[in-house]
Amino acid sequence: MARILPVPSFDCVVFGATGDLTMRKLLPSLYGRFRDRQFGTDSRIIGAARSLLSTSEYRQRAEAALRAHLPAAELEPEVIGAFLALIEYRPVGADDSRGWEALVALLEERSGQVRVFYLATSPDLYGAVCARLAGIGAINARSRVVLEKPLGHDLASARAINEAVGVVVPEAQTFRIDHYLGKETVQNLLALRFANPIFERLWNADVIDHVQITVAETVGVETRGGYYDRAGALRDMVQNHMLQLLCLLAMESPLSLDADAVRDEKLKVLRALRPLSPREAQAVVVRGQYGAGAVEGQPVPGYLENLAAFPGTEREGWGPSTTETFVALKAQVDSWRWAGVPFYLRTGKRLPRKVSEIVVQFRMPPFSLFPPEAQAREPNRLLIRLQPEEGMRLEVMTKEPGPGGLRLRPTSLDISFEKTFGQRFPDAYERLLMDVVRGNPTLFMRRDEVEAAWAWVQPLLEAQADRPETPRPYAAGSWGPTAAIALIERDGRTWHE
Ligand code: BG6
Repeated sequence: MARILPVPSFDCVVFGATGDLTMRKLLPSLYGRFRDRQFGTDSRIIGAARSLLSTSEYRQRAEAALRAHLPAAELEPEVIGAFLALIEYRPVGADDSRGWEALVALLEERSGQVRVFYLATSPDLYGAVCARLAGIGAINARSRVVLEKPLGHDLASARAINEAVGVVVPEAQTFRIDHYLGKETVQNLLALRFANPIFERLWNADVIDHVQITVAETVGVETRGGYYDRAGALRDMVQNHMLQLLCLLAMESPLSLDADAVRDEKLKVLRALRPLSPREAQAVVVRGQYGAGAVEGQPVPGYLENLAAFPGTEREGWGPSTTETFVALKAQVDSWRWAGVPFYLRTGKRLPRKVSEIVVQFRMPPFSLFPPEAQAREPNRLLIRLQPEEGMRLEVMTKEPGPGGLRLRPTSLDISFEKTFGQRFPDAYERLLMDVVRGNPTLFMRRDEVEAAWAWVQPLLEAQADRPETPRPYAAGSWGPTAAIALIERDGRTWHE
């Protein structure tokens, strides 16, 4: 059993309290931590949003969200009752003065508590909400402000948000969340690399041929078309989650696990990413958009049909949406350790399987001792499965048993984390929310990191803007446009599937 370390009592004010993220992730995650007694009945969860709801109406919505998003085995009537009793709701106008006095009065009832302000609104409101919080005197030494992604839609807007927030909230109290960093298996990358010298000694261009990072989803845009059509896969997944994975894989050993020591090393990777001009980006970035097809045996409509449900996403006079729902790209880290080792990244919606996986492919032996009839010449590969069925697999060559000559066959050393540890992995938000309460920013992005990631992505966005025609169609249920396969095959390599 994992050890549960109780956190200090807190008030967690969620702005955007009626939104999808709060209902789907934040409330169920807080419930999970409460159920495990990581915090008690002296903490409060305060929903704040535009809607004129009473606390009891909001509690009903919260209960429905728990029932919809948690497994039945975790729904314990007594715990639910006690959890709902922690919840308050106040109607608050994020960009006007409505409701702020009532909010401050509520907070003042327990002025010594840790205060978490979770901003799950549109990012254009982050600056205004922080200014109001400072205006009512709610930011003190025990306050932390959490900023959900997306943090802006390009480098300039990300800088503007950071600037506006930074005027009133010190960096040490600003928690920019990337929920991938809260996933157990993502944190395990640090353990894999720095607790196992057998890997760390081989973790360089002398031995590694290339790295692949795939984050594939079967879902389409579902209820999020309004947001997604303005973002697209590059902003929604690559700029944040995928570059964070790349950083953890490629960074040097930090001097300690101290938050800044880890983030300094990740920042160096982002700065070492070879910049791509919009022209170069056209050669190494493939964008796709799903059309109708079938996923897991079910027929599904295409992206444009999905969008039809969202007013405001149609582009009168501009033709259909050119937002990408798939991206594959090749990145290079210009450092001594990684010179010449490509990192291939791909992510997309409506792909055949939900899987997040890292493949570290080692070089072939420099010389083959075995005759051609020994067959199978496969490189060693280390597969790190982030979700689902979290685990690791090391593919090695072995001799096929039995007489009849020496034949080689690839086999694997497999570790399933679920079987090994026999417990459920908490949702990433559970871990991250408790880190916020404790004031530990290690798994959150520092301002310079976020901006360095946007700086690398910016020319890719510009390349897209120059060639709006480029999202290539792919059928829902396929692995993306054929150009994504060509991207890696041009280099004599293939995607691991
Ligand atoms: C979110 C994206 O950040 O991550 C979504 O906005 C995506 O579009 C989600 O579906 C994927 O997260 P997970 O944890 O399901 O891999």
